[in-house]
Amino acid sequence: MAKDTLTITDNRTGKTYELPIEHDTIRAADLRQIKVNSDDFGMMTYDPGYMNTAACKSAITYIDGDRGILEYRGYPIDQLAEKASFLETAYLILHGELPDRGQLDEWTYQITHHTMLNENAKKFMDGFRYDAHPMGMFVSTVAALSTFYPESKSVFDANVRRKQIFRLIAKVPTVAAFAYRHITGMPFAYPDNDLSYTANFLNMLFKRTELKYQANPILERAMDILFILHADHEQNCSTSSMRMVGSAQTDPYCSLAAAAAALYGPLHGGANEAVLKMLNEIGSKANIPALIKRAKAGEVRLMGFGHRVYKNYDPRARIVKKTAEEVFEVTGRNELIDIAIELERIALEDDYFIKRKLYPNVDFYSGIIYQAMGFPVEMFPVLFAIPRTAGWLAQWQEMLVDKDQKIGRPRQIYLGPTTRDFVPMEQRSLVVAKAER
Ligand code: ACO
Repeated sequence: MAKDTLTITDNRTGKTYELPIEHDTIRAADLRQIKVNSDDFGMMTYDPGYMNTAACKSAITYIDGDRGILEYRGYPIDQLAEKASFLETAYLILHGELPDRGQLDEWTYQITHHTMLNENAKKFMDGFRYDAHPMGMFVSTVAALSTFYPESKSVFDANVRRKQIFRLIAKVPTVAAFAYRHITGMPFAYPDNDLSYTANFLNMLFKRTELKYQANPILERAMDILFILHADHEQNCSTSSMRMVGSAQTDPYCSLAAAAAALYGPLHGGANEAVLKMLNEIGSKANIPALIKRAKAGEVRLMGFGHRVYKNYDPRARIVKKTAEEVFEVTGRNELIDIAIELERIALEDDYFIKRKLYPNVDFYSGIIYQAMGFPVEMFPVLFAIPRTAGWLAQWQEMLVDKDQKIGRPRQIYLGPTTRDFVPMEQRSLVVAKAER
């Protein structure tokens, strides 16, 4: 008869163990009973990069990488990108359900009215060097915000958490825009409460001498769609960092700064910057086959290709590609899109990429849009961090109220020297010489 258990036989001892299966997983701690001797530590799993380890139970984002499916709280990403706004999506991600009209109005009001940065935070940002990377400014300013809101340390108080969630979702566009104005030598532009979340962001970025900034509705909506697509992506490197740091009961500002730092890496949120660099280096369609050859030889990676989870077309990439065409109607065509489309076509017909299930990911086309909208490449990971703030906070909150969760603390397989006596300085050269013989 079928049973929800797993039977393991340890061939070192001949002993058999029966472990319960729940949600297609076994508890790693159940393996600890598998021992050769009673003083053994017990069996562990070895899983660098957490390729096959579930570190939490979550009800926020569902991904089926083989079928190219992404859903927030059960709603398919393409429906949200078509029908919802970013703030509505952020509410959904954080609360589990779509808001009704009253809830959305209240949510929007609260976020709109927390967009200002304390003037001292603004001064802090002014202190960065003229050419500081905006992601470095973003990470450190978000961490610095914790010093303005010391009550945020009360992470188990639901009301305190709620306030910090408003503040963080509201303030990250302001921090991002101030970083942009700093590197472009422009005076900071304050938030405008009459505008939508994304129109206000465009206002703080691009407002010049006009009294009232008017956002182009196509660019405002394109930015909103990009924000929806980037709002959450379950347990990736940055989200796991948020959960890991948050598991020490660190306040949400410092936890979120750690998540943003993870996002900064070129294998994660920095990939769209790398894609643009790659497309610029390719320069013309004629040079694509040579790059494909180098990628197949393992000399380079096609940036924006491949994903740890998606072994099919990243559903977000399809929406970004479509959004790019709409943006170009306003900004003019970014020539790099033609190189990107041709690169995708050639790669998707090539055995190397087919066999390894390497498809364009969300970053493959997003950088092309951002460049067409006038952003320097250094801003790309910052543009990613703004919407992901909603996801990070939802995951952080879910972790805090989950009774199963403990401070994050992986194990290791120790392969270093066994116990040995301290060697006094005067004897060390002898020890080194002996070791080198
Ligand atoms: N170009 C060429 N070959 C690749 C690429 C690529 N972009 N990505 C993976 N491969 C190859 C690897 O060389 C490997 O081949 P092998 O089996 O012959 O050794 C195989 O595909 C599997 O690669 P892994 O590195 O094991 O895959 P992993 O799941 O660890 O990596 C990652 C996923 C990091 C995204 C990888 O595909 C990559 O480096 N892509 C480029 C960077 C990128 O676009 N990152 C953005 C990810 S999306 C995001 O963070 C929002």
